[in-house]
Amino acid sequence: MKFKELIFSGVQPTGNLHLGNYLGAIKRFVELQDRFDCIYCVVDLHAITVWQEPSELPHAIREVTAAFLACGIDPRKNTVFNQSQVAEHAELAWIFNCVARLGWLNRMTQFKEKAGKDRENASIGLYAYPTLMAADILVYRATHVPVGEDQKQHLELSRDIAQKFNNDFSQSIRDKGFGDAFFPLPEPLITGEATRVMSLRDGSKKMSKSDASDFSRINLTDDADAIAQKIRRAKTDPEPLPSDEKGLASRPEADNLVGIYAALADTDRAGVLKQFGNAQFSTFKAALTDLAVAKLGPIGAEMKRLLHDPAAIDAVLADGAERARKLAGQTMNAVKDVVGFVR
Ligand code: AMP
Ligand code: TRP
Repeated sequence: MKFKELIFSGVQPTGNLHLGNYLGAIKRFVELQDRFDCIYCVVDLHAITVWQEPSELPHAIREVTAAFLACGIDPRKNTVFNQSQVAEHAELAWIFNCVARLGWLNRMTQFKEKAGKDRENASIGLYAYPTLMAADILVYRATHVPVGEDQKQHLELSRDIAQKFNNDFSQSIRDKGFGDAFFPLPEPLITGEATRVMSLRDGSKKMSKSDASDFSRINLTDDADAIAQKIRRAKTDPEPLPSDEKGLASRPEADNLVGIYAALADTDRAGVLKQFGNAQFSTFKAALTDLAVAKLGPIGAEMKRLLHDPAAIDAVLADGAERARKLAGQTMNAVKDVVGFVR
């Protein structure tokens, strides 16, 4: 069965939105909106898999929404909302908890990393995180999911869940007139030069919201001075830039900065090295600073402007949630019929 092309993606409201979130995800959400129907979600239910301060969570939710809008996502053309306003996500996640196997979840590296050594003390939500993610996508029967590289394994699990649901319920799916597959197998869209932006302090660690050092990341709300300072202090090696891409192998910090430049300038690593091959890092860092300030400055300023009017942001979320609920409700009714619930 052919499914209508539909994009879904989500970002957690856990503070410190950074350059990795922008280049790996949000910038690409914007590029997709002209060609596809898109649903972009602030995944607050995922956020509380680790403790979130109730007095800070509303701001974090509005901040991700403001970032979506400031980056150019049009909330009239796309559906923009926060996950907790559409109960069907959690409802379908429960059904997927009964489809997914313990062994599948035990393989998830993000859980292992986030739970760390104290696994006994991790929330059950953190463990079940990927089944909710599968529900986010499949409650709209979305077909394509733009994400950064770190989400690849979760996307594979979403496909496994969709496939197993289709298999387990194949007879019922056919009996209810849904053809031979109820859910599409969602495809990850992991493309471009910055699918895994690394820490500015350590080229072997990914740039992350939770890194203790603010110098490891460029936040979307950083001003020009902060951006300049962070790039100036970014770790490098003593050699000048190589003249071709092969020369970036085993130079993770150089590779990262060149990748960031390429993604910000909408070119590729080869193009950047054509311009900066054999240059010293001091020269390249100055150019990267100018580019980053030119691209990120207006986004940060627009986010601040939008955040002055929280009610307007909440109205965007309420409108998006209402539209999302209609679609999700239809899927959920069909799922209930397929599973055999009385409604
Ligand atoms: P999160 O902040 O974990 O909700 O991530 C939101 C989106 O940003 C997801 O699509 C991630 O894959 C992406 N992302 C997060 N960190 C990075 C990074 N360092 N490089 C590229 N993409 C990232
Ligand atoms: N797990 C994603 C992250 O941390 C966020 C997310 C939740 C998501 N649900 C999603 C991404 C559905 C894509 C599709 O980055």
